[in-house]
Amino acid sequence: MSDATVFPVPEELAAKAWVDEPRYLEMYQKSVDNPEEFWTEHGKSIHWFKPFTKVKDVSYGPGDVHIRWYEDGTTNVCYNAIDRHLSTKKDDTAIIWEGDDPSEHEYITYGQLHNNVCRFANAMKARGVKKGDRVTIYMPMIPEATYAMLACARIGAVHSVVFGGFSPDALAGRILGCESNCLITADEGLRGGRKVPLKANADKALESCPNVDTVFVVKRTGGDITWNNERDVWWDEACSNADSDCPAEEMNAEDPLFILFTSGSTGQPKGVVHTTGGYLVYAAMTHKYVFDYHDGDIYWCTADVGWITGHSYIVYGPLTNGATTLVFEGVPNYPTASRFWEVCDKHKVNIFYTAPTAIRALMREGLAPVKRTSRSTIRLLGTVGEPINPEAWNWYHEVVGEGRCQIVDTWWQTETGGILITPLPGATPLKPGSATRPFFGIQPLLVDNDGKTLEGATEGNLCIADSWPGQMRTLYGDHERFIQTYFSTYKGLYFTGDGCRRDEDGYYWITGRVDDVINVSGHRMGTAEVESALVAHPKVAESAVVGYPHDIKGQGIYAYVTLNAGEEPSDDLRKELITWVRKEIGPIATPDMLQWAPGLPKTRSGKIMRRILRKIAENDFGSLGDTSTLADPSVVDDLIDKRMNK
Ligand code: WTA
Repeated sequence: MSDATVFPVPEELAAKAWVDEPRYLEMYQKSVDNPEEFWTEHGKSIHWFKPFTKVKDVSYGPGDVHIRWYEDGTTNVCYNAIDRHLSTKKDDTAIIWEGDDPSEHEYITYGQLHNNVCRFANAMKARGVKKGDRVTIYMPMIPEATYAMLACARIGAVHSVVFGGFSPDALAGRILGCESNCLITADEGLRGGRKVPLKANADKALESCPNVDTVFVVKRTGGDITWNNERDVWWDEACSNADSDCPAEEMNAEDPLFILFTSGSTGQPKGVVHTTGGYLVYAAMTHKYVFDYHDGDIYWCTADVGWITGHSYIVYGPLTNGATTLVFEGVPNYPTASRFWEVCDKHKVNIFYTAPTAIRALMREGLAPVKRTSRSTIRLLGTVGEPINPEAWNWYHEVVGEGRCQIVDTWWQTETGGILITPLPGATPLKPGSATRPFFGIQPLLVDNDGKTLEGATEGNLCIADSWPGQMRTLYGDHERFIQTYFSTYKGLYFTGDGCRRDEDGYYWITGRVDDVINVSGHRMGTAEVESALVAHPKVAESAVVGYPHDIKGQGIYAYVTLNAGEEPSDDLRKELITWVRKEIGPIATPDMLQWAPGLPKTRSGKIMRRILRKIAENDFGSLGDTSTLADPSVVDDLIDKRMNK
């Protein structure tokens, strides 16, 4: 809104930053007027074994959808992230690892990183892993997680990182979904002082994945695990037997780099495929400009490598820029709510990037845990993952940043590979709660439900016209679903699934998903996944899951459950079902509320009216809209009754 407070760019920052406002406008204009020229210039920022001569070949359909960038160039992502820096930065810190326990940390130089990655790459080769193979990584936030990713990139294997908080079932689905036969894990993870039984989970998952013939296991805690001599290999043993010389495979720009499973509005998670050249150019370039990264900066992104943010902005973007990137094993409130800021002081962090849900949780702890730390090295603060409410933005700005640090609220998606809508620190006056303006080359469009493009200050469905190098290329094994999901709703446009408002200054305000995807603590989840977990329980007949506003998590999970005939609702059963979902998917999918629903509101054709369920979950009974098309309108009254009497 126009009445939002505007925070101008401090002049001295504009003078020092890579781009100030006039430069942003000029570069942006060039990037959309002449994308070939713009992306040729920026494509050269990475090292190519064989330079590209073609820049862009993109069709958004109808019919054929293909996206290719730099397609005749060859390069290697790991070479760019490590080898290229060895002549100047061999002894500089590439990774600062901060353990869950504050007494543990480690500095890994570029030289050591090279050695560790090459050894592990050779260890994988020795077990038969080769270019094009898919390798699943199910790891805690330890340095080996990044070595594993980089080693895959080095030999041309395609990694699929699965978040360590996922259940055995969810892991199995993702292993099968990308047909991988090698898994990398650890004995146990450590988070907030608690152990996560990764190897035990993996063993369970592998019962349904007979094709996995190698499991590399990092010894993290030394806890008891079961061992399969044929299949399991200790990381350390494999690496100590391996050579430290491993040439980086020459990869085509469009060879896949990784698959990352993410939730959609229907069905099973989708295997988003990112390729090599364009992804790397975009990840590195956005990291440089959005965080105004300069040589020598200590940079910390608190995400997990199990999510896209960890891929692009813990590993690939920062390392390609030769940065020092901090890898944190723990959680924001362990041992105390000062942890984030203590780590910033301890390692002299200059750039800090986290999620609104963490900010809101820490905000609740009051000022003291922040104030007892210095934070004086921090220059820039970033957020990602969900809309940040202005109250949390202001707290981040005033309390954490003491009014001194610009905030970059970065909007993007697993599918986009890198940041698309964001302030640039030296160029963009800020409005709390707005992701502000598009990055170079990005052309956001707002369209109504009929696909009509809306002009000026307005609200609609967020689409992107034209491509950018970091864009996903396909869904693994299902190009048809790729076309259907992203390029069929609005012809000729990439549809993001997000709703968005644009104000009179051309600032974008993301309003949240317009599909059945919910965003819980910045973790993206399909309501369909939670529903199918619930109906897999023998006592459940049917279920509908919606998101509802939650103070800390942004959105909470609200589950309506219809039991089989003869089953009686009870508090014990409620607890049992909640635990069940936790086990089926993982703790992040734990329902916050579970309401018994003798019937669900359905249209005469049997479609569940989620709009109504969302309103009831929100306690907003006044605006249920038209219920006359329901097969049985009385179920709504019943659900409202139950909601009110909870
Ligand atoms: C949401 C995370 C508002 C959005 C990088 C998007 C945001 C989904 C923001 C992607 C932001 C991400 N403001 N909403 N700054 N950043 N989102 O794939 O709904 O895990 O579609 O990628 O998160 O989540 P994903």
